[in-house]
Amino acid sequence: MRNSPEIASAATGHQRVIAIDGPAAAGKSTVAHLLADRLGALLFDTGALYRAVALAALRSGVSPDDEKTLSRIAADVQISIQPPSLRDGRHYDVHLNGEDVTWSVREPEVGAIVSRIAEHAAVRAALLPLQRKIASDGQVVMVGRDIGTVVVPDAGLKVYLDASTEERARRRFREGSGRGSTQGFEAVLDETRQRDAIDSGRQTAPLRLAADAVRIETDGVPIDRIVAEIEELARNRRDVAGTLFWPS
Ligand code: CDP
Repeated sequence: MRNSPEIASAATGHQRVIAIDGPAAAGKSTVAHLLADRLGALLFDTGALYRAVALAALRSGVSPDDEKTLSRIAADVQISIQPPSLRDGRHYDVHLNGEDVTWSVREPEVGAIVSRIAEHAAVRAALLPLQRKIASDGQVVMVGRDIGTVVVPDAGLKVYLDASTEERARRRFREGSGRGSTQGFEAVLDETRQRDAIDSGRQTAPLRLAADAVRIETDGVPIDRIVAEIEELARNRRDVAGTLFWPS
């Protein structure tokens, strides 16, 4: 009985994956970082994968419309996302072919094209195996647009973080200014709207609220409260036998 297939598959399933999806600058990364810390889980921000491909495309002068070449880049480049090696405000390291590109992938030039690159089905397909592999490794908080709907539809907990467009643009503007970016508020607001439109309107894996996701509006809500709310949801999740997935 102990080794029955049902138990084996439950043990290797995705109950300990927490999927956090939502539009640009909804606070997903910050919330996920604090949550992963409290739960002792890995943090995996899948947006960094798309941003790394966008950076590689920019550097080699590939058009955001060239799906074939972009998908080759997505399949060939080495992207790794690891715990932070420096204490400079980063939540994780992003390496592209061995180079630390953690901050480069946050530059406005990357933000301006990343959604057009993420629209292509072939690019998304190339980035799927790595995401599914990380999901299978166990306790992980995964952040993105399609984690609960496509990447890990059987995640143990799905959260959809949202906030008004203006609030999200304000947050992104403050973040950028803090890092010395000269991008003005109107430009940030424009980019936020454009990315939302592309991410929600694309054919493949559009940004959607999964049917079984918990939606949390974050306008004016302190980060700590959001994290505490999600932690409580996670701590109360249990399997059919009553075993807690995230015991305190
Ligand atoms: O941090 P922010 O919310 O601005 O964006 P991000 O999570 O770094 O994602 C950058 C872009 O990558 C998004 O606007 C999407 O176009 C794309 N993305 C995606 O399509 N699917 C994901 N799972 C994650 C990101």
